[in-house]
Amino acid sequence: MLNPQQLEAVRYLDGPLLVLAGAGSGKTSVITQKIAHLVKSGLYAINEIAAITFTNKAAREMRERAAKLLGEGGSEGLTVSTFHAMGMRFLEAEHAQVGLRRGFSILGEDDSRALIKDLAPKGVSNDVLDRWRQIIGRAKNQGLDPPAALAASQTPREREAAELYASYAQRLTAFNAVDFDDLIALPVRVLGNRCGHPRQVAAQVPLSAGRRIPGHQRRAVPVIAAVGRRSRHVHGRWRR
Ligand SMILES: Nc1ncnc2c1ncn2[C@@H]1O[C@H](COP(=O)(O)OP(=O)(O)O)[C@@H](O)[C@H]1O
Ligand SMILES: [Mg+2]
Repeated sequence: MLNPQQLEAVRYLDGPLLVLAGAGSGKTSVITQKIAHLVKSGLYAINEIAAITFTNKAAREMRERAAKLLGEGGSEGLTVSTFHAMGMRFLEAEHAQVGLRRGFSILGEDDSRALIKDLAPKGVSNDVLDRWRQIIGRAKNQGLDPPAALAASQTPREREAAELYASYAQRLTAFNAVDFDDLIALPVRVLGNRCGHPRQVAAQVPLSAGRRIPGHQRRAVPVIAAVGRRSRHVHGRWRR
């Protein structure tokens, strides 16, 4: 049974919703019950719903709990994935938008570290390399390309990192590859360029095709719900 606050969050369908609550307080229950509610209300088809988590473990748990609520076959077509897996799926569909070719590869953290080491001047300590890598990652998360990162750099170290970022980005392009940060940053850039109404953005999420709810029955605003603890950073910002 959900408490009144949880029920309110489940039933709220009029736009974006942010729930902040502590560990073990029933946040996942809100999301899974909300998924069930969206489907049972008849306003959304299961394949129009995407639930996004931080970890694969959380995604598995959420998928299982949603499946239990929706019954036999009821959760088929539901997207539950991490931010990064979702980003990967998005880029597979939209690779041309960011200059990637089909079958691009994804550099893991170790590969990315090795590439940065390869591009950096010889003899630089691992600590400095890691610091540069962090600065590059932060620039990507802020949506800065190498020239913008260079323009924004304020310290010699940031300037060096921005220069390294330029050769790193060039090399990734030559490899037809992305790193983990790109899995978030590139979809955000594509969606940001197209930005407009949230429904437009939500409609860009490449969910599987299937039964669709007729237009006149749709709600004007997609239901976006985020739950989290205050101590956890939510990557990215909500845009209207
Ligand atoms: N209103 C509630 N009353 C009783 N138990 C609840 C309630 N909401 C959630 N629970 C239970 O509490 C536990 C933690 O809930 P969960 O949704 O996983 O929390 P969170 O995602 O915030 O960690 C689960 O076993 C869940 O079934
Ligand atoms: Mg949870």
